[in-house]
Amino acid sequence: MSVVVLLKDVWKTFDEGNNKVVILRNINAAFMKGEMIGIHGPSGSGKTTLLKLIAGLVRPDRGEVIVDGYNLNMLDENGLAMIRNTVVSYIPQDYGVIDEFTVFENVEIPMLVAGVDREERLRRVRDVLEYIGLQNKIDARTKHLSGGEKQRVAIARALVMTPSVLLADEPTANLDWSTALKVVDLFRKIREDFKTTVVIVTHDPRLLDLMDRSLNLMDGYLKDATLRRR
Ligand SMILES: Nc1ncnc2c1ncn2[C@@H]1O[C@H](COP(=O)(O)OP(=O)(O)OP(=O)(O)O)[C@@H](O)[C@H]1O
Ligand SMILES: [Mg+2]
Repeated sequence: MSVVVLLKDVWKTFDEGNNKVVILRNINAAFMKGEMIGIHGPSGSGKTTLLKLIAGLVRPDRGEVIVDGYNLNMLDENGLAMIRNTVVSYIPQDYGVIDEFTVFENVEIPMLVAGVDREERLRRVRDVLEYIGLQNKIDARTKHLSGGEKQRVAIARALVMTPSVLLADEPTANLDWSTALKVVDLFRKIREDFKTTVVIVTHDPRLLDLMDRSLNLMDGYLKDATLRRR
């Protein structure tokens, strides 16, 4: 099995007033192709920051982040934008969908960035919506969708460029348990069908039990928590 995400001695510090606060210290981790990883930890422990580092949205102070063979330190902003559009997709906690857009308009965004022509965009949006079971909502205005449907639009948009890595920040935080389970089932199906590496941040211990591995982030350190949980 191949390593798709490699974190080597990653450190991240933020300024808080005159103080420097170390959020992540000496993070080392390897996520494999097709693996489903759960990350948990207290609020403010740096979970979102860690996902953003892997997505190339935040740069480390020290250390290396290697995603699908790309060393993110070696890339300029244009290179990182290309990676974000094709190799790694980050789904923010608030879904990051544009309420005023239709479902089609939301899902086609990464293809607009990549310069895919209209006919091909339409074909791929239809395909991905059918895959996630939202084909009947293609022309719906996103603001009229339920929370679970919005989350699926966000997943469809993340999936449309078939990234190697899917990062989801609290994807089920605002959903009831049965809707949350459906979202997790969708992530499982994605990893089965496309061998995508899926990294999910969650506070919910029931979701962690459904992951291949769970990691705990605390006091800046990332530790394997799988054995402790089982
Ligand atoms: N751009 C920034 N500038 C300064 N401080 C930041 C920045 N981004 C994050 N932080 C700080 O880093 C710490 C970790 O933030 P982060 O959002 O990664 O935590 P989290 O584990 O995702 O928390 P939550 O569970 O509440 O979402 C917090 O104390 C936050 O205030
Ligand atoms: Mg967060």
